[in-house]
Amino acid sequence: MSFDYEHLIVDIPDYPQPGVVFKDITPLIASPEGFQAVVSQLVEHFSAAGATKVMGAEARGFMVAAPVAYALHAGFVPARKPGKLPRKTLTENYALEYGNDALEIHTDALTPDDKVIIVDDLIATGGTALAQLRLIEQAGAQCIGMGFLMELAFLHPRDLLQEHRALDIFSLVQVN
Ligand code: PRP
Ligand code: ADE
Repeated sequence: MSFDYEHLIVDIPDYPQPGVVFKDITPLIASPEGFQAVVSQLVEHFSAAGATKVMGAEARGFMVAAPVAYALHAGFVPARKPGKLPRKTLTENYALEYGNDALEIHTDALTPDDKVIIVDDLIATGGTALAQLRLIEQAGAQCIGMGFLMELAFLHPRDLLQEHRALDIFSLVQVN
């Protein structure tokens, strides 16, 4: 069943900085039908992939990735902004559409047996997704796919992920 996601995603020009059109997904996930559609379409796509873990990046990634993990009967791994995790961490720095940041996971969050799907609300430059891929690699686990609600295809995130082009990269909405 297809859902008209875009009528519940609001464009905010020049936020958080001039030249960026921010995609506000809060109306979509506030809609019971919209939120159900997002989660169930991502779950349906990855249902046969055999994921043991789903990774979500703080903060919007948590909103989509955690319910997908639950429905797939997989564990959830939060990739957090620096200084938020209390134990020893693996860290990756990255650039995104409007700045630089870093993501961390606990050193024992993944094992080499894990098959991981990265889920986020949005992929823009691909910097956040690449940082998560590198965290998975640092942990010795395997990334088996990535799922996004929205892909800003005009920023060519798949070019940044070219080394990983064999991966299943799935987006519900492509913005060209
Ligand atoms: C947003 C979004 C993605 C990332 C995508 O998160 O939720 O994680 O940007 O951008 P990229 O493809 O250019 O890396 P943001 O870092 O703004 O944090 P937030 O979820 O806390 O708002
Ligand atoms: N993350 C990176 N770029 C973004 C955008 N244009 N809108 C919302 N989230 C983003």
